[in-house]
Amino acid sequence: MSTNETHLQQADTLLAAMTLEEKAGQISQYFYLAGMSAQAEFVEAEVRSGRAGSLLFISDPAETNRLQRIAVEESRLGIPLLFGFDVIHGLRTIFPVPLGLAASWDPELVERVQGIAAREARAVGIHWAFAPMVDIARDPRWGRIVEGAGEDPYLGSQMAAAQVRGFQGDGIGTPDHIVAGPKHFLGYGAALGGRDYDEVNLSENELRNVYLPPFAAAVKAGAGNIMTSYVGTGGVPGAADRRLITDVLRGELGFEGFIVSDASSVVDLTTHGFAKDDLDAATRAIRAGLDMEMWFGLRFQEGMIPTPGVGAFATLPDAIRQGLVDEQRLDEAVRRVLLLKFRLGLFEQPYVDEGRAAKTLGLPEHREMARIAAERSAVLLRNIGSVLPLDRSAVRSIAVIGPLADDKQATLGPWAFAHDLEATVTLLEGMQRVAGSGVTVAYAPGVPVPTRVFPSPFAAMEQFVGDTSPQAALFDEEAEFSRAIELARTSDVVVLVLGEAADMNGEAASRSTLDLPGRQVELLEAVAATDTPVVLVLLSGRPLDLRRAIERTAAILVAWHPGSEGGLAVARVLFGEVAPGGKLPFSWPRSVGQVPLIYSHLRSHQPQTSMMRYWEEESTPLYPFGFGLTYGEVAYTNLCLHASAIGLDETLEIQVEVQNRSSRAIEEVAQLYLHQRYGRAARPVRELKAFQRVVLESGETRTLHFQLDAAARRYWSSAQNTSVLDASIFDVWVGGVSTASLHAEFTVQDSTGSFLSPTNKP
Ligand code: NOJ
Repeated sequence: MSTNETHLQQADTLLAAMTLEEKAGQISQYFYLAGMSAQAEFVEAEVRSGRAGSLLFISDPAETNRLQRIAVEESRLGIPLLFGFDVIHGLRTIFPVPLGLAASWDPELVERVQGIAAREARAVGIHWAFAPMVDIARDPRWGRIVEGAGEDPYLGSQMAAAQVRGFQGDGIGTPDHIVAGPKHFLGYGAALGGRDYDEVNLSENELRNVYLPPFAAAVKAGAGNIMTSYVGTGGVPGAADRRLITDVLRGELGFEGFIVSDASSVVDLTTHGFAKDDLDAATRAIRAGLDMEMWFGLRFQEGMIPTPGVGAFATLPDAIRQGLVDEQRLDEAVRRVLLLKFRLGLFEQPYVDEGRAAKTLGLPEHREMARIAAERSAVLLRNIGSVLPLDRSAVRSIAVIGPLADDKQATLGPWAFAHDLEATVTLLEGMQRVAGSGVTVAYAPGVPVPTRVFPSPFAAMEQFVGDTSPQAALFDEEAEFSRAIELARTSDVVVLVLGEAADMNGEAASRSTLDLPGRQVELLEAVAATDTPVVLVLLSGRPLDLRRAIERTAAILVAWHPGSEGGLAVARVLFGEVAPGGKLPFSWPRSVGQVPLIYSHLRSHQPQTSMMRYWEEESTPLYPFGFGLTYGEVAYTNLCLHASAIGLDETLEIQVEVQNRSSRAIEEVAQLYLHQRYGRAARPVRELKAFQRVVLESGETRTLHFQLDAAARRYWSSAQNTSVLDASIFDVWVGGVSTASLHAEFTVQDSTGSFLSPTNKP
């Protein structure tokens, strides 16, 4: 018998011994809120009585063991708990935020990064990450753009698969690895107005061609779990969307793992005005194909203190007894969860070695990888007069200015919970360490760390979130502002660190503007007025409005929220110890009014005026998708296709030469874009289809090879209501940005030798 069959048999034996209440409990996941004793005690009691199969939000190994002991030693069947956690960009060692990792265009790096995150997580007893977030995000007002890979389905798919491989290793049960849970199925990133949790309306074209591919890639890479979305496409919330989770995810994509709801979103089916009550919500969610309910463990009644309580799945035994749900459906969901626990080896070893945890977290090699990842994520947008890299023989004094330059939290970014704040290297510390003895580095924050401003009805939230700026109360704004300007005036160069505080992006952190928050623009203007060259370093999880910054700075480096070693990494880039090679994973808008702005848009009426669709602004981005400079000139030449015409199912071989025309080693991301000129649906003006990040020694010319198979040309045609391959003429561009001009074309013929496929003929 294969291991798989043995596990299945073990799961079925256990299943046969379970009561309906235990089955419903096995597929109920609770938050464990240690800080809220009533909730924590309630959850412990549920575990003891076999009514909770999984917990989330515990990262202390002693705590996981204690709770696991309750499940294993005190519950009737002794089924171990499955522990989940938001391991988004590291656990103790924090890597750049996922949007930054995507900007590396380096799937191998991203795989290694999530492999380390998995090792640290597994060491404390976590079995499952609610990651990667593979939602395509085309509206940077949406705070969760920071958690994904940006606007493009192809880049998003590569990053999704790399992260799944990183978390899971060679598959579920690989030692030192954890289960990946790509999320949020489906379309969460398309929330109207970029407002978190708002309504989503996706056309079938967008759903299939844009939002689905990263999930397909994650499933193909073997993801063990998928999380549904809070929002629904067109009135059916994600947790109960049978068409999406059963027909598309299971039926079409062949997903075999278990499907969990987002936190409390089964109970929310009632809030949404979709379900009548908990019983209806649980019935419809499980019938739609959901396998597990994630639940806060708290009920919020109006005007009352939240009280601990069960989720909607606690009604499943009643639903079965009333004949609303088929018990086989419940068994199927429970079997999936038990099977996973067997595959993870939890029945043999439910506990974690607490001593080993301490030896695994924040290891030097993990931190080194965090530094490398931050270096590779940095995107250089501007470098006038080659102010960068900083030249130690010409620059003797550096003014590090800006509130975020010494802000550890902003260096880490959102979605970090089990980190070591003290050990976080800020930009200031990094500059001091890398500058060397002959260069002085002095610091002035200039203005306080920007804080989130809550509109008046939510002013109370401010107390809840707290003041993110430790210095705020003591900060003498006018004196500090003047001191910063004076420091700028008397230094050779200014490294100005601006951007967003950590809590300004992430979940429930949407913004109605892309402005640099607080008094940062004022600071920028005053610093620039000193005429000392300004190198702007941006810490943020979304593009910001840089129109004013562009006129006043010599260089702009996007560092994202770069993680535990972020300051060191950025300093090394600024001093040229390593050349920047990251590229934008989204189109950088000029202003918020252009949003959403997508490079792979459709050509439509009057394309000759498409640059000027607004009367007061161009409709092009400030920086295009795929853009990023390095410390040298890169040239692309000799684009060759192996054939000028191929058949519908054939693969095209493409090669191109890329040359480093500078006197130092650099890194470049070569990108290949495709366009179909006509077909059964109009296709985007260009779409990313392949890329390679390469190291090029000084003067080196490298021949790069790409393959464009039929799958790269396949798309969903709304007209045909299926995916199609068209015979057509195609354009190919290769270069270092989505606006690359090096071009070639080829034709695809169907079996009749025609350029038009039969269904396409008039
Ligand atoms: C809600 C978020 O939408 C989801 O991404 C996250 O994993 C869960 N909360 C658990 O924290």
